Amino acid sequence: MSASIPNEFIDELLNRIDIYDVVAPRVTLKKAGKDYSGLCPFHNENTPSFTVSQQKQFFHCFGCGQSGSAIRFLMEFEGLDFVDAVKELAEQAGVEVPLKQVNKQQHRERTNLYAITEKVTRIYQQHLKNNQKIIDYIKNRGIDGKTCQTFQIGFAEDSWDGISKRFPQDQQELLDRCGLLSHSNQKSYDKFRNRLMFPIHDRRGRVIAFGGRAVDDEQQPKYLNSPETDLFHKGRELYGYHLARKHSSEDFVIVVEGYMDVVALHQHGIKNTVATLGTATSTEHIALLFKTWTKVVFCFDGDSAGQKAAKKALLTALPLYLDDKIIEFLFLPEDQDPDSYVNQNGQHGFLQQLQSAVPLSQFLMDIISEGIQLNTLDGKAQLHERAKSYLKQLPHGAFRQIMHDNVANISGITHARSKKPNQQKRPDNGQLNPMRRLLSLILNKPALCEKLPDDLDFTLLPYKGAEIINKMIEIQAGYPQINSAALLEHFRNSDYVSNLSRLMVVYDHMDETELTSEMDDLVAHLEQLTTTSKINQLREKQLQDGLTDQEKQQLIALLTKKIK
Ligand code: UTP
Ligand code: MN
Repeated sequence: MSASIPNEFIDELLNRIDIYDVVAPRVTLKKAGKDYSGLCPFHNENTPSFTVSQQKQFFHCFGCGQSGSAIRFLMEFEGLDFVDAVKELAEQAGVEVPLKQVNKQQHRERTNLYAITEKVTRIYQQHLKNNQKIIDYIKNRGIDGKTCQTFQIGFAEDSWDGISKRFPQDQQELLDRCGLLSHSNQKSYDKFRNRLMFPIHDRRGRVIAFGGRAVDDEQQPKYLNSPETDLFHKGRELYGYHLARKHSSEDFVIVVEGYMDVVALHQHGIKNTVATLGTATSTEHIALLFKTWTKVVFCFDGDSAGQKAAKKALLTALPLYLDDKIIEFLFLPEDQDPDSYVNQNGQHGFLQQLQSAVPLSQFLMDIISEGIQLNTLDGKAQLHERAKSYLKQLPHGAFRQIMHDNVANISGITHARSKKPNQQKRPDNGQLNPMRRLLSLILNKPALCEKLPDDLDFTLLPYKGAEIINKMIEIQAGYPQINSAALLEHFRNSDYVSNLSRLMVVYDHMDETELTSEMDDLVAHLEQLTTTSKINQLREKQLQDGLTDQEKQQLIALLTKKIK
């Protein structure tokens, strides 16, 4: 969605607002040289490593590495997505966010798709009312009418056109785009037939897809889900999220595997529950849940499949495991899922079982030491090695330190630790190649682009990055007063963004005059490098195929330039 806001608007916005005004109400800042510093809000620390630069309109934490523009800060601090963060800043600045024309069109088309899924949901609900056998099935599974209504559960008739015949010819394509049709031999027919239907809602409660459960034993697959469509991206959605959100005052949310698990727990009054949709838990899922709740309890069946799924969830969760968040793993007794467990033991029984959930730290230690004989030296070394690969995925912070200490205690192997264990290394400009120095100078002060001679050909250099430099020059030329943070935002969707953020702080210690003279030195150096490289190219060609008159003149000019 980020592409829907024009870059020019973001440049302007980041020029208009002051990152200090955005950060200061949320973090206590003290003036430190030309910048401000404070305790980082994104990890636990006792000495400030978080800095805010007004000149660059950029924040950076030397402890945990978080960095970026005022937009990034709001996204991280308030848990907003890109568009919402931009909207909030725009509101503060008193300007309106323009959405691109194509997106208005897209927006209209989506609205049409929602109208289709809503109507289909109602038809399925109607079919259910007319089918006593299915009503009995649902009742047998302990679900009452009210819960059925809440989840808008319905039934797809055993018919090839139960749905499609209810829509005019010119809407069949929309039905298809909602993933509701199947095709064979140029014929289209209803995808869902003879199935109990669970509508899947988005965060705002709109129906975006369906899951259909078989009602006859021989029917395959047991659950048929909508394919990915314009409305539905599996890795992003969670079943029941819109209902669970209404219980955001609970400090935890339960993640289960199945539709019926969510419905059954809800029926028993445990409403802060969501399910992944036949896929593994994604980082997006976890990040989404942490926006609302501070504790996530993953609930798995007690069998080996459950163990496997739990390990997968653990690996996904590690990089997101911040000190102020809690993740727990609940394993149910063998052959039980949350649905069957709560039906047998009631709300109280389930909540009691919840008490036996193990914290991530314990589950992690269990996995790290799985199958290792800790009373042998070999075992201890093995533990140490295995732990390394897991622990490096954890974000810097107190928890990571505790886990390191734990492993060190058990294995008897300690790391040589520097005095400041979590400090990221501040890159030094002396270690950087000329291209990277140029990148960091431009990022520090985009107007320095104007010092670059037009004929400087970066592609002649034996370093990567010519493309990015050229892009930056183009951006700065289009908006000469662009600031550092805004320039960086242009690369938000690229793979380079974290590298660029790091280069942003290389010249932190320099003031504007020093930056300018550093740039002058670098330009001279780059001209020399490119001249030499071009001369070598021409000489090579001279030896191989000879030079044209024009090239000869060029070579002479270059050689004179070099001598000067
Ligand atoms: P289960 O097989 O454990 O079913 O699949 P369940 O949720 O307990 O359902 P009931 O109680 O038998 O009715 C767990 C989840 O995995 C996905 C579905 O999301 C299901 O809810 N799944 C399962 C599929 O997507 N396709 C399948 O064929 C089976
Ligand atoms: Mn079940």
